[in-house]
Amino acid sequence: MNRIVIDTDRDMGVVNRHVYGHFAEHLGRCIYGGIWVGEDSDIPNIRGIRTDVVEALKALRIPNLRWPGGCFADTYHWKDGIGPRKERPSIVNIHWGGVTEDNSFGTHEFLDLCGQLGCEPYICGNVGSGTVQEMAEWVEYVNSDAASPMTELRKRNGREEPWSVKFWGVGNESWGCGGNMLPEYYADVYRRYATFCGNHGGSKLYRIACGPNDYNYRWTEVLMENFSISGTGGRRSPSDFASALALHYYTVDWKNMAKATGFGEQEWFTILETAVKMDEIITRHSAIMDRTDPDGRVALVVDEWGTWYDVEPGTNPRFLYQQNSLRDALAASLTFDIFHRHNRRVTMANIAQTVNVLQAMILTDGEAMVLTPTYHVFEMNSVHHDAALLDAKVSCTEYRFGDRALPGLGASATRDSSGKIHVTVTNLDPTEDVKLSLSLEGRRAVTVGGRVLTAGTVDAHNTFDAPDAVRPRALTSLSVRGGVIEGSLPARSVSVIEIT
Ligand code: AHR
Repeated sequence: MNRIVIDTDRDMGVVNRHVYGHFAEHLGRCIYGGIWVGEDSDIPNIRGIRTDVVEALKALRIPNLRWPGGCFADTYHWKDGIGPRKERPSIVNIHWGGVTEDNSFGTHEFLDLCGQLGCEPYICGNVGSGTVQEMAEWVEYVNSDAASPMTELRKRNGREEPWSVKFWGVGNESWGCGGNMLPEYYADVYRRYATFCGNHGGSKLYRIACGPNDYNYRWTEVLMENFSISGTGGRRSPSDFASALALHYYTVDWKNMAKATGFGEQEWFTILETAVKMDEIITRHSAIMDRTDPDGRVALVVDEWGTWYDVEPGTNPRFLYQQNSLRDALAASLTFDIFHRHNRRVTMANIAQTVNVLQAMILTDGEAMVLTPTYHVFEMNSVHHDAALLDAKVSCTEYRFGDRALPGLGASATRDSSGKIHVTVTNLDPTEDVKLSLSLEGRRAVTVGGRVLTAGTVDAHNTFDAPDAVRPRALTSLSVRGGVIEGSLPARSVSVIEIT
């Protein structure tokens, strides 16, 4: 028997809704085609932004959106993307296929998109090939209400009020595509840029430094140590310099790229095993941060995560277009359990990427749109946004594959403002249903319901011809007996159980 016991009394903080954030880069067909079609398109749009995609993302209650990259961010000069579209220069997108970027989607269009979605914008500024002045002026352009050349320019471009952008990244992957810097060098560069990215109009900019890649613990050590010292040599709190470090971790094997579909149990196991390494990575970076920031004032923002496979056959290898299967849904669900558990440090995260790139929510083909299994996990798990985290103790059988093993179940639980308890349970076993007993410490369950996401095969996925092959259904296999919930959960599934 598998048991989950939920302590409903212990204060574990909240699940910040921003861990359900997104990322949209000028890469392949994410922005162009996936989000932006232009005002003259036959595809229904509002001011050039596709309506179907906006409506689908609104159903996720998407909390924030990171833009314009990724690697693209450190090549992007924001003034190329403002003013009349016909007058904007075209540039070469050097990282992503050398395609022409005509800059028709720029600052105003991005902030219009965030307005349509009702989400917080998260802009990543250019450190690699930009200047301090350029970044400082961008912040001023979007956030200032005072009279200045930048605010005048914004008004001439049709926007009277500032947007009050809060989340601001100072470079992306500065250890790699963002400039190949060493941490000692980047730490000082960051401090210089951050100094001139001002607070405007009474709101404080949330400055996000480029953090480590996966297992690069030295990067975190050097940055946190550097941020503990003032320019004159005295001790400072790292939070005086940075609100957060951005961690990137992809579920990928660069030497042996996995396929998105058409795989068997070995690839199923390996991807799930790789995805849950996120726990160890966050734990170790957090422990390093604790040394100089014991109160947890500097967040760890996982602003790029997700599965990364070989591209779909016949597509541009630099467009990173991949299918998305039930396996991705489970990888996302297990990752959210990890983010929930690390809610003290991990206050924000961004799946890579929103549309048509890597572990996408949405795939488009011309005017057609399909929602992926990952989309459904984001939607089902939206009940956890800003909810009180509860301690979920899981005792379960192992899921074994050869001589390797993973816990057979993943779980996390929250209580929402109305008192309902939601428990996400992931059954990793690809073939076996599991029997479950779920009880609440400090409360008796009265009713149980919920939804489950599963399908007939481990690589089941949605296509333009069969868009609903993987979609959530009512969960009817659990019932309450004597205040305890009992029943079974299907093999290869994600369930979100609702308890009153
Ligand atoms: O998400 C795709 C790319 O992965 C991003 O541009 C970059 O930051 C990372 O290496």
